[in-house]
Amino acid sequence: MSATIVIGADDRSGASVRIDVEELLATRLLVQGNSGSGKSHLLRRILEQSASVVQQVVIDPEGDFVSLAEPFGHVVVDGSAYDGTEIVKLAARIRQHRASVILALDGLELEAQMRCAAVFMNTLFDAPRDQWYPALVVVDEAQMFAPAAAGDVADDVRRLSLAAMTNLMCRGRKRGLAGIIATQRLAKLAKNVAAEASNFLMGRTFLDIDMARAADLLGMERRQAEQIRDLERGHFLALGPAICRRPVGVKIADVETRARNVVHGLMPMPNAAGEEMEALLMAEPLMFDPLPTPPEPEETAPESGELLEQIESSVPAAEQVEPPVEPSLFAAEETAADIAAILAEMAAEPDCTFQPAAQLYQDFTVRCRMQRLGQVGIDLAAFRRRFAMAVAGIPDDREPRWQAALKLAEGVADDLVAPFLVLAVAAVEGLPCPDDDRMAEIYGTRSPGRIRRLLDHLEKSGLIVVRTDYGGRRSIGIPGLGMTTAPVEA
Ligand SMILES: Nc1ncnc2c1ncn2[C@@H]1O[C@H](COP(=O)(O)OP(=O)(O)O)[C@@H](O)[C@H]1O
Ligand SMILES: [Mg+2]
Repeated sequence: MSATIVIGADDRSGASVRIDVEELLATRLLVQGNSGSGKSHLLRRILEQSASVVQQVVIDPEGDFVSLAEPFGHVVVDGSAYDGTEIVKLAARIRQHRASVILALDGLELEAQMRCAAVFMNTLFDAPRDQWYPALVVVDEAQMFAPAAAGDVADDVRRLSLAAMTNLMCRGRKRGLAGIIATQRLAKLAKNVAAEASNFLMGRTFLDIDMARAADLLGMERRQAEQIRDLERGHFLALGPAICRRPVGVKIADVETRARNVVHGLMPMPNAAGEEMEALLMAEPLMFDPLPTPPEPEETAPESGELLEQIESSVPAAEQVEPPVEPSLFAAEETAADIAAILAEMAAEPDCTFQPAAQLYQDFTVRCRMQRLGQVGIDLAAFRRRFAMAVAGIPDDREPRWQAALKLAEGVADDLVAPFLVLAVAAVEGLPCPDDDRMAEIYGTRSPGRIRRLLDHLEKSGLIVVRTDYGGRRSIGIPGLGMTTAPVEA
């Protein structure tokens, strides 16, 4: 039995890129990409294409996916409308009736979202053996539910949620549950949860730390993995047994609005859907239903190889939940990485350098609040510098290789920080000297004359040396670093 769905087209050849759903059930999927890279679109494409083939459960923190209900018959369970006991009963019936559902959590606070999702997933996991039907369990923004480190949620909540995600990804397969998880930041996702996926779709990624994790998971050299830094929205690098054996760049196809009639392989879906299924699940009285039967003890011992694998891949519970370093330090580290990610995202917006600093600063504070970062201790003046660094390609001011350049930039006037640093970055990296168009973009001007004056000024200040070789090619040296950009035609 097999069923394949098309997710998009190969960037190079234009050939269809497919996912083998049967294989996906066995090998799970991890999607990574910065906010706006197209993860939710990609999940929607997978859900739409496979809706008629396999049961689907979506843990939806933002209520993004409720629109699948109308055309595809998913039942929407509003997490904020039920208490824990009701959620348990709903989840049990979902297993029993093989209903496709969206668990919409947008009406809840973070901790309540984590609790609700955990109780829900644990009940799916604990279903009796005769209900271990195959189902895709899609978790968007998975770093919320399986955080790598202690954050601002209560410890017991984090433990509960992390345990549910670990169950899903590490032990769900046998019970028919196949995790498909998406995250903005790999470094923020618990390692053991990420490590259980064998299929990957990596989208645009700004931060080195996430890139390094992605390279690890893909089994690639850092340099090779660099290509995901420049991916456009909707483009992903795909790899894994359910997709392709070699890394393939894929442009994710459009999403549909109506169901496709693909009933091919796997198991026919239940007849009830939409309102009928909803009636089955919500049938009164929820309160007096018998509790789901507890899972039967497993009759057969796992084979020795499987057991060994389990032992090797399982991390003792205490290790899973305790942060490896002193908590406050770790939190500060995490916050710094979050700030870097926000700055990188803002700096990637087209024409951002043409906006007034005050407006950008306001945008920045809103983004920090949305990520629940609390007081980040960056005022407008500090923000201007950090933003200039980000525009120049240094969103994280802690990265060792930029420290010398940042030190030099301390003496540079605010509005010249970005243009100076972009030259310094090119020099450190041995990249070609940025052309006037690029410089104008960085400086936030449309006037070529201003760029000439800018370079003159930087040169007079002793910060740069502009050199033109006999072939008329320009390179720029940074005496303070003892480094020079590669030359380009001026
Ligand atoms: N492959 C694609 N084709 C067309 N539009 C896309 C594609 N991927 C993403 N988009 C659009 O880009 C925006 C951001 O995508 P989204 O999936 O919400 O990103 P993310 O979940 O990674 O933050 C959305 O408006 C979405 O419709
Ligand atoms: Mg999204």
